[in-house]
Amino acid sequence: MDFTLTEKILRDHLLDGSYEPGKEIGIRIDQTLTQDATGTMAYLQFESMGLSRIETELSVSYVDHNTVQVGFENADDHRYLQTIAERYGIHFSRPGNGICHQVHLERFGRPGRTLLGSDSHTPTCGGLGMIAIGAGGLDVAVAMGGGAYYLTCPRVIRVNLEGELPEWVTAKDVILKVLSELTTKGNVGCICEYVGEGVQSLTVPERATITNMGAETGVTTSLFPSDEQTQKFLAAQDRGGQWAPLAADDGAKYHRELDVDLSDLVPLMAAPHSPGNIVPVSDLAGTPVDQVMIGSCTNSSFADLMTVAEMVRGRRLPSSVSLGVAPGSRQVLMMIAENGSLADLIAFGARILESACGFCIGNSISPKTDSISIRTSNRNFKGRSGTASANVYLASPVAAAAAALRGEIVDPRDLEMEFPRVRMPDRFKVDDSMIIPPLPAADRAKVSIYRGPNIGVPPTNDPMPEDLCGKIAIKVEDYITTDHIMPAGSRLKYRSNVPKYSEFVFEPLDPEFSKRAAVRRDRGIANLIVAGVSYGQGSSREHAALCPMYLGVKAVMAKSMERIHAANLVNFGIIPFTFVSESDYDLLSRDDDLEIPGIRDALEGGAEVVEAFDRTAEKKVILKMVLSRRQREMVAAGGLLPYTVRKRG
Ligand code: F3S
Repeated sequence: MDFTLTEKILRDHLLDGSYEPGKEIGIRIDQTLTQDATGTMAYLQFESMGLSRIETELSVSYVDHNTVQVGFENADDHRYLQTIAERYGIHFSRPGNGICHQVHLERFGRPGRTLLGSDSHTPTCGGLGMIAIGAGGLDVAVAMGGGAYYLTCPRVIRVNLEGELPEWVTAKDVILKVLSELTTKGNVGCICEYVGEGVQSLTVPERATITNMGAETGVTTSLFPSDEQTQKFLAAQDRGGQWAPLAADDGAKYHRELDVDLSDLVPLMAAPHSPGNIVPVSDLAGTPVDQVMIGSCTNSSFADLMTVAEMVRGRRLPSSVSLGVAPGSRQVLMMIAENGSLADLIAFGARILESACGFCIGNSISPKTDSISIRTSNRNFKGRSGTASANVYLASPVAAAAAALRGEIVDPRDLEMEFPRVRMPDRFKVDDSMIIPPLPAADRAKVSIYRGPNIGVPPTNDPMPEDLCGKIAIKVEDYITTDHIMPAGSRLKYRSNVPKYSEFVFEPLDPEFSKRAAVRRDRGIANLIVAGVSYGQGSSREHAALCPMYLGVKAVMAKSMERIHAANLVNFGIIPFTFVSESDYDLLSRDDDLEIPGIRDALEGGAEVVEAFDRTAEKKVILKMVLSRRQREMVAAGGLLPYTVRKRG
C-alpha cells in the first residue's frame, strides 16, 4: 500500500476512528505551542480541568503578540504565563525571543511529529515535515493534558513543484501563486503536500514561508518532505540528531493535483483587502507607497532580512516612506547585529521593532489614513493594520525592499542592481537563554501562580436547552473575520478578562452589540447570529467564540463557516449552523424571534437538518448542522470544558 506523507504521520498518531478521508479522527499530539493572545485562556482552561502536569513530549508558551502595550495588563499576563509554565513543566519563551512559529521552527519542530498550536499559522512548522495544525486554545489545553485532538481525516492535495526560482522571485511568490489557484475558499478539510523536483531547491525557511501562508487557503495544514534540506537546517540549528528522512510513497494517491513550475513564476502581491487578491507586481508598478513593513512569521528569516539589507546597503530611504523591520526571532536579530547588516538597515532609515508580531496584528506601527502599506506578512484584511482606511499589499521581502527604495511599487526585476543571492548559513547562532526550560518535576508544586487583576476566571456555559428560543442579535455580511468579531489591537490586552473583553464583540461593525446582547442574556433570552459566506475567517482567536458565549450566544447561522472558527464555536457550546438554501439568509433580520423546537433531541439523535421558525412573522428557515457524535455531545453539554470535566468523572 502506498501512502501520502500526511497519511503516514496521521496513521502513526491515530487514537480514535479509522483513516477515512472526510470522517472525524482523533490523533495524539506530540508538541503544543501557545502564544500570549490565546495562551492565557488556554492555560486558565487547562487549570479548570484539574490536571497536574502536561502529557506531551514538549509544550512551549510564547509571548509574541502583545508585548509592548501601555498599562499593567500585559505584564500581568506575561507573569501568569511564566509561573504557569514553571508549575506544569512547560518551556517559556520570553517576550523579545521572537514570534512563536519562527522560534518553534528554529528550536523545537521535528520531522514526523504532530504539533497543535493555538494560532492559525502553526502550519509554519510543516516546512520541517511535521503535521502542524492551528486550533483554539481549549483544544490545545486538552492536547496538553494528553487528550486526542479531533479533526476531519484530510483529503490530500499534491502540489507538484518543478524547476527553480528565477532571480527576484521568492518563496512568497510560490505561495501567492498557490493561493491564486486554490483560492481562499473550498479547501476546508484538505492538506497540501508539496512534492517534486522543485522542492529540493527550497531551504526550510523558504518552505516555512509557503506552509505558513498556506493557512490563507483554508487547508488544515501544509507540509514538505523531510530531506537533505531538512537535515542541513537541523544541523545548522545544532539539532542534527533530530533529523529523520520522510517522504510520500511513489504510488501514493491524492485527492487533487496542482502543478507549479517555479521557473515560470513572477513577483506577485496580494492587493487589498484579501490575501487571495493576487496580481503581478508589474501591474501595480508606479503606485506610490507610504509605508513598508518587513517581518512577521511569514517572512523574517535570516535570509529574508539579509536580502533586504543587501538591497538597501549604502542607500537612503525616500522621505515620503516610513520603513519598519521586525526580525522574526532573537536568533535572526543577533545574527544580523553581529554581521553588521542591522547597522545597514538602520543607516538606510529603517525603524527596528522588537522581535514580535507587532505591526502584523495592528499592535505597533500603523499606517496613516488612506495610505498604502506594503507588508511581508500574511493577512491584509481591512483594519488589521490598525488603520481602517489603509490599503495593505502583501509582498515578498524583495518586492517590499524595492518599494522602500523607490517610494513606489516597482517590479524588483526592473531595479538596476544585482540580485543579492543570500545562502542559508551553515550554522545559526544558537542561544536559548531567553527560553526558560521546565523546572525539575520535584520543584514544580512549590511554584505559586501569579494572578494579577487582569487574570479572570474562564466563564462556563449552561447545557443546550430542550428547545432553543432566541433573538437575532446581529446580522452580518460575507467574509466576516475573527478581527471583526473580536477586535485585537488596543483591545487585546483584555484577553485574560472575558467580561471586560466581551464589551467589544463586533465593535468594528456594531458598537452597541455587546450591550444589547448582555441585556437579553440577563433576561434569559438566547442570542443568535446570522452571517454570510466564510464567517469567522482569519485567525484562530477563540475569544471570537468564547466572548459571544459569555454574551449568551447559542447559535450562528451562516451561508458558510471557516474550519477553526466552527470548531471553536462547538468548543464553547454554540451551534455552527449553515443554511440549506443560502437564500434563507435574506429572510432573516435583526431582532427576529426564532425558535428551534427539540434542538437537544436533534443534537442527541443525530439529526442533520432542523427547522427554525420566526414566531411573529411566520418565517421558516432550514438549517444544517454537520457535526460528529462527539461534537453533538459537546454542544449539548455546553462545550468542551463541561464535556471533558464530565467525562473525566
Ligand atoms: Fe504573529 Fe502575525 Fe504571525 S500576529 S503569529 S506574525 S500572522
